Amino acid sequence: MTRRSHRMPKSRALRAGRIALAMLAALAAASCERAAQNMYDQPRTRPYRQNPLFPDGSSARVPPAGAEPYASGPAADPSGGRLGRQEAERQAAADRAQAIPGPVTLAMLRHGRELYAGYCLPCHSPAGDGDGRVVRRGFPAPPSFGEARLLAAPDRHIYDVISDGFGVMARYGNRIEPADRWAIVAFVRALQLSQHAELAALPPQARARAQAALAADGAGDVHTGGADDAGAGGSGDARNREPTR
Ligand code: HEC
Repeated sequence: MTRRSHRMPKSRALRAGRIALAMLAALAAASCERAAQNMYDQPRTRPYRQNPLFPDGSSARVPPAGAEPYASGPAADPSGGRLGRQEAERQAAADRAQAIPGPVTLAMLRHGRELYAGYCLPCHSPAGDGDGRVVRRGFPAPPSFGEARLLAAPDRHIYDVISDGFGVMARYGNRIEPADRWAIVAFVRALQLSQHAELAALPPQARARAQAALAADGAGDVHTGGADDAGAGGSGDARNREPTR
């Protein structure tokens, strides 16, 4: 056999080079996978297996006293860790607040309105006067948010009623996070304002519009907040009829 000393044709050389490169890449990838695999293969304990590390010989450990589960509550949403701690602290701070924390923004009011519609409106009604559908079907009527006592009540009272319940009203502290409860309080305040705003407190443009509307209506129709809301729950009255719409 004679040794062929002259070079391979160019195209064959190129192809050989490519194949060599591909093989190198494959090798590199395989060793990467090996390195990553080592993380799975490190010593660890399996559920329900014996483990000589602990005096009781069990791999199942009881959490230390006072341990907080990170898989539930506000910390669970943002996947635990630092974000979870921050969220838990944010909610704890909200829970300590004595009045609506921070400035009331439009976004907060919209959020509060959404929550109110889901959690409160069925009893308290869209206007907050306590004439919700559940009440029309026989549940005890809540007081109107427009009642003088509730107009004067501090924010924290409404927050506490949501958290702990009140009389026959159930508590929502186990379902609504503190920051969300404050959003509802802000919306309840807005509802109160919507039914009981002082003309003088309105911004000039809104005041002009309200005055024009009142003049057109004849001021006699203005809701006086009283007599018709009082006599609660006789069985034959309008409360027990479905609205005709
Ligand atoms: C199943 C009906 C129902 C739902 C839902 C409900 N409430 Fe009530 N709420 C009541 C009743 C009834 C009362 C009056 C309780 C009593 O005096 O025994 C009341 C009372 C209140 C009061 C007045 C407490 C006081 O000092 O007199 C506030 C404020 C209030 N609710 C806010 C809310 C908010 C906010 C929500 C939603 C998170 C809500 N409620 C959901 C029925 C309900």
